[in-house]
Amino acid sequence: MIPYNKLTKIPYGGDYNPEQWPEEIWEEDMRLFKLAGIDIVTLNVFSWAALQPDETTYDFSKLDKIMELVKKNGLKVCMATSTGAHPAWMARKYPDVLRTDFQARKRKFGGRHNSCPSSPTYEKYSVALAEKLAERYKEYDNIVAWHISNEYGGECYCENCEKQFRVWLQKRYKSIDKLNEAWNTAFWGHTLYDWDDAVLPDSRTEFFEDTFVMAQGIAVDYDRFMSDAIMQMYIREYDAIKKIIPDAVITTNLMGFYKRLNYFEWAKHMDFISWDNYPAVGDTYAKTAMAHDLMRGIKNGEPFALMEQTPSVTNWHTYCALKRPGVMRLWSYQAVAHGADTVMFFQMRRSIGSCEKYHGAVIDHAGHENTRVFREISALGKELEKIGPEIFGLKTKSDIALMMDWENWWAIEYSAGPSQELRYLKEFGRFYETLRNMNYNVDIVSPDMDLSSYKLVIAPLLYMVKYDDDENIRNYVKNGGNFVTTFFSGIVQENDLVITGGYPGRLRDILGIWVEEQDALPNGEKNQFIYHGKEYPAELLCDLLHLEGAKQIDEGGYQKDFYAGMPVLTKNNFGEGAAYYVATASNEAFYREFIGSLCGEMGIEPVLDVPEGIEVTSRENDKKQLIFIMNHNDAETVIHLPMSGKDLITGEEYADGEMVLEAKGVRVLKIEK
Ligand code: GLA
Ligand code: ZN
Repeated sequence: MIPYNKLTKIPYGGDYNPEQWPEEIWEEDMRLFKLAGIDIVTLNVFSWAALQPDETTYDFSKLDKIMELVKKNGLKVCMATSTGAHPAWMARKYPDVLRTDFQARKRKFGGRHNSCPSSPTYEKYSVALAEKLAERYKEYDNIVAWHISNEYGGECYCENCEKQFRVWLQKRYKSIDKLNEAWNTAFWGHTLYDWDDAVLPDSRTEFFEDTFVMAQGIAVDYDRFMSDAIMQMYIREYDAIKKIIPDAVITTNLMGFYKRLNYFEWAKHMDFISWDNYPAVGDTYAKTAMAHDLMRGIKNGEPFALMEQTPSVTNWHTYCALKRPGVMRLWSYQAVAHGADTVMFFQMRRSIGSCEKYHGAVIDHAGHENTRVFREISALGKELEKIGPEIFGLKTKSDIALMMDWENWWAIEYSAGPSQELRYLKEFGRFYETLRNMNYNVDIVSPDMDLSSYKLVIAPLLYMVKYDDDENIRNYVKNGGNFVTTFFSGIVQENDLVITGGYPGRLRDILGIWVEEQDALPNGEKNQFIYHGKEYPAELLCDLLHLEGAKQIDEGGYQKDFYAGMPVLTKNNFGEGAAYYVATASNEAFYREFIGSLCGEMGIEPVLDVPEGIEVTSRENDKKQLIFIMNHNDAETVIHLPMSGKDLITGEEYADGEMVLEAKGVRVLKIEK
């Protein structure tokens, strides 16, 4: 995280773009920040054009002034490198900097995230800029973090990228024969004779009508390559800054479940994780929680920074609904409840032009403090002031892990069959949301992480089992762990090649089953099964499986069709532990019953047992535990508190018994150990 020795409380602030405003109003900004309790600003996110007006000229005069101003006003700085959008002169003079899209159209200057990751020009000038910034501002001790570029994304299909892809392939496969094998090129006469025959999978090559890919192995490798190529853009600047400021603390703002970038890999190169939280209207609170838990999970449970959220409204949704009174506060605490150690906004002052002029800001177009949003921000600022450093560094402790894998995600969604409705996050979310709604703390882990501290590991839709990921799972179960996976798992290895001999491939011995076939049910069609005396729907996919040592734990199998009677839920005792298989998708009632009963058997407790709409998580260290209780309901809700504790926000003491939570209310109970 941002080094705690530089902080006395949760940093509160966000993106500040004074360069877009006349200097006359900067002092007014400072006054308003003070009023709102803002103590950190993210500067210089999109200033490349101003900092470097041509190839040889750099001009830091405005940034110098801004740095002096914020320093004088006691503000901490998260210093961005401005490389999220390249300047016009660069595009004009060096077109290699421009990305080529999936349709093979070379972009022109404009927009942002517009640079090709393999562009020599971009490499040269982005590194130079990062270096110059580090050199110039290294003495400012109010810079508490460095923020490279902004929300990386945007893949490229240009010739430079194609060349780099070939280099990447040579490194990975060593020989063309190996590559042919990995890509199954005997199919449709795809055999490659030379590395130069390898082409990027775009609309001209492996994609049919832009959505359906004909060679999944190639597509997955391209995704790996592109995630890595974009990550190298980040790493180059990271290294440039570290060379000059060895103890700089560096991040880039991630985007939660962003499909194109494998954040488990990125996290290895980030000093701390930061991310931007923009739930869509209608998202459940559990969905937001899932993204927070992912952002904590990619870096082994370390606290992260909430780098951006809107104070009120997000401009790019179809319907830009306002955050209702109390919701900005509630969602800020929700981030903290899941591991955030900062509360930050995009942005400080609402712009007057372009696409973000209707995006919420701390200071609205009205320009003064007499707005609902400003009042809510100031009130939260005062609370965070009061809470001080109490929350820093506290970790989430969980007995349960959900296994998440980007490469698996890519592969599942490139798959032609067994069902176009198959969506990784949907299946992942069914388990996550159930666990969240039941108020278990959940960690999100990758298949190669250490699993030994968990009592229960759930890997929904683990279609692709890569390298020796199965060994990790096997050892975990052997040593007493409990593992759950679902239909359509263990099917392929890392190149999307089926593991022959029977599904679920490398997981077969662990699960003690053989899946012979999969039946896809059209949307709305259902089979049924019975579990703990109740009937539940079987939807989406139904695996037809045979027991090979596992025992059936549903009652009587599928209820109809030619596979009536075949098992739906199985349990296999394996070594000291057990492995469970869920052969179909079902409804929330089923997942609640299934997970609830597994957790019961394993002695896993929810943080608190509370009514619907109340979210509870905890963070702790060896001295204290904080319990975050959040009422997402629109109405007052009463919960039963089985312990006593002191609310960090109000200082109020709560004895065990009833606690009344107002609509959108939050309590952060501190319990000394
Ligand atoms: C993203 C970006 C910001 C801004 C906001 C607006 O999160 O990082 O620069 O564009 O969206 O929603
Ligand atoms: Zn490119």
